[in-house]
Amino acid sequence: MSSKTLDLAPASVEDYRKLAEKRLPRAFFDYIDGAAHQELTAKKNILAFESLQLRQRILRDVSNIDTSVNLLGRALDFPLILGPVGLAGIFARRGEAQALKAANKAKIPFCLSTVSICSIEELNEVATEPFWFQLYVIRDRSYAIKLMQNAAAAGCDTLVLTVDLPVVGERYKDVRNGLSGKTNLMGSIKKAINIACHPRWLWDVAIKGKPLVFGNLVDAVPDASGLKDFKSWVDSQFDASMTWDDLGWIREHWSGNIIIKGIMDVDDAKKAVAFGADAIVVSNHGGRQLEGVAPTLDMLPEIVKAVDKKCKVIVDSGIRSGLDIVKAIALGADACIIGRAWAYAIAAKGEDGVTHVLEIMKNEMRVAMALTGVTKVSDIDADILN
Ligand SMILES: Cc1cc2nc3c(=O)[nH]c(=O)nc-3n(C[C@H](O)[C@H](O)[C@H](O)COP(=O)(O)O)c2cc1C
Repeated sequence: MSSKTLDLAPASVEDYRKLAEKRLPRAFFDYIDGAAHQELTAKKNILAFESLQLRQRILRDVSNIDTSVNLLGRALDFPLILGPVGLAGIFARRGEAQALKAANKAKIPFCLSTVSICSIEELNEVATEPFWFQLYVIRDRSYAIKLMQNAAAAGCDTLVLTVDLPVVGERYKDVRNGLSGKTNLMGSIKKAINIACHPRWLWDVAIKGKPLVFGNLVDAVPDASGLKDFKSWVDSQFDASMTWDDLGWIREHWSGNIIIKGIMDVDDAKKAVAFGADAIVVSNHGGRQLEGVAPTLDMLPEIVKAVDKKCKVIVDSGIRSGLDIVKAIALGADACIIGRAWAYAIAAKGEDGVTHVLEIMKNEMRVAMALTGVTKVSDIDADILN
């Protein structure tokens, strides 16, 4: 929050980011906030949204603003989805379950990551609406089938297939913080001291938030003695040999919606349409994978044109406000995903934090619609841009 205000309440996603930074041990905050290499792509994602200008319009009747949309057979209060974020149960006690509750209350979808702390079954116990499941196609195909079956049994109607992680991106902060690779004795002591300096996190998560395991992978790594063992297993399981041909195999095992996440190229978008994807996510993984790739917003119009309404287009990477949602819709997106925005909120204030961030974003969207002179999401188009 700004040092020039009284700082009585968080007002924006950035405020939640700062609260999360205080609340979390350094390595975990950096895991959320960091990105690949110098983090230029991550910064440009945000800058692309900031640089796009809106047209202010006046004296139109904007007394009734409707932010709702229909997406893949479901009514959403506004066009936003809580995207898959691994390890959210490390940011707050049973973080995924808390975030799901906030999403259900806000009437928008929540997508559970393959590498979550809470399992599919734990989420099913608190879900009041079907949630989405994100799958990394792992080498152990029989385990991938088991995950899809578990998700279907828990009522998940939508599978998000993340395809931009055949290998893990180079995230310098994770290496420097000892999250990737080995740590020496000095490193372990430094980490322990840093954790000790965050007693609220220690109590909320490390003590009260157990079991801290990769909930969906306990059967795959039965001998795991800590999160590092799960991480090593997952890192060894990303299947770099996967191709478009493998998608048919997924279709055989999943009868619900399939969303392909990680599309940054017109030809790939056309291939996803040819495969019969119900939606694609234009995503560079929040700049966490390929440093130097374009910001998603720059690629969105071409991809929307290429897809030609044959499937839904969702966009993520860099969305930090309701203004950004309006801008993405104006460039042709059907909906947006947030990753870090909800991760900061869950770390800062748990379910209440996510609920508040969603209220903030929805209200910002409403205000942006009113001031650009549109009352329905279907009326948002390039005409509202300068
Ligand atoms: C901490 C963190 C963990 C993530 N874990 C996953 C994951 O497990 N699966 C996945 O498909 N994407 C994952 N993502 C990417 C997000 O789903 C999303 O694409 C990205 O965060 C969007 O960018 P934004 O953070 O700027 O909103 C993760 C992102 C973050 C920040």
